[in-house]
Amino acid sequence: MGDQYEVSEVGARTLTIPSLRWEELPEGPVVVLLDQTRLPVEEVELVCTDVPALVEAICSLAVRGAPLLGIAGAYGVALAAARGFDVEEAVEALAQARPTAVNLGYGVRRAADAYRAAVAHGAGAPQAAAAALVEARAVHAEDIAASARMAEHGMALLGELLPGGGHRILTHCNTGALVSGGEGTALAVALAAHRAGELRRLWVDETRPLLQGARLTAYEAARAGMAYTVLSDGAAGSLFAGGEVDAVLIGADRIAADGSVANKVGSYPLAVLAQYHHVPFVVVAPTSTVDLETEEGADIEVEQRPGQEVTEFSLPAAQGAGAVPGTGVPVAPLGAQAYNPAFDVTPPELVTAIVTEAGVVSPVTRDRLAEVCSTSRWS
Ligand code: MRU
Repeated sequence: MGDQYEVSEVGARTLTIPSLRWEELPEGPVVVLLDQTRLPVEEVELVCTDVPALVEAICSLAVRGAPLLGIAGAYGVALAAARGFDVEEAVEALAQARPTAVNLGYGVRRAADAYRAAVAHGAGAPQAAAAALVEARAVHAEDIAASARMAEHGMALLGELLPGGGHRILTHCNTGALVSGGEGTALAVALAAHRAGELRRLWVDETRPLLQGARLTAYEAARAGMAYTVLSDGAAGSLFAGGEVDAVLIGADRIAADGSVANKVGSYPLAVLAQYHHVPFVVVAPTSTVDLETEEGADIEVEQRPGQEVTEFSLPAAQGAGAVPGTGVPVAPLGAQAYNPAFDVTPPELVTAIVTEAGVVSPVTRDRLAEVCSTSRWS
């Protein structure tokens, strides 16, 4: 039935602008971001010359997605050090910009530790800044490598779970090249299946309220030439009921030690649907997203976002700006209260497998998760 749906226009381009890069300008280094609030209408770059600009970009979701937040955080520390700002102040501001995606704190910590170690060994400011930059580049490079490994492991797992190919994969939020130095997490696996001629359809949840699926995943899928269909989040149930979904592939923002998975709000309902319909629910995330210090799902802090993201409809590039709360079209009565958690938490018993760069965790148990993380190169 999937193939009778309207096929979105497909192309074969990859991202024309990388999602994030470090650039040395004559007036000093900068972090350049592809402003994701403006996609898919416009490809506009944001040039961050200081840490407050980068923090603002993180909070407004101009730069977003767990692995990319780790990379942004690490370069943010390097930027502060290179430009002579207060590094400890920068560390604090960056790490606290968003609370759920553990990669942000991870990237910040790696660059900050490198900076502090250099200072402790008597390095001057330029050498300590260089040490922070080397570490940020390492975080970036490791993410690229992890992305490729996750795609390999994920493909092998799909082969086991769904022998015969022709996969119809449902995904939620955005997990491709926009959130990574490489090809991403869950979308990297779908992309590998597509290249192998094994992806029949990518079902793209629009992902309310900020439409990361409709705006960003569809943008990536179109560029990769994948056959994809965007659906409203509420339509997923009827897709499962009609036998149209072979597997769910999503990313993660934080995975607790017990295997509970925090990801974009709307992921947990998909896991419940998947279990009811006996469809594999697979999470793809690097081990840097696993937080063994968070014991269980209930301990994960879930970011609460402005209610206006729900009570208004804010389209990208409307009025020449990104999707900014307070500038959209009201879709609820003035003064309506809104419940707007950015993420939800899926318990481990609903997760078929967690695919990491270091291997696959299945069944999802505390011990197996710890074991896989201990073999990670940077654990
Ligand atoms: O609020 P966002 O857009 O940063 O949320 C992103 C997600 O929930 C992604 O699914 C998650 O970071 C995994 S990305 C590899």
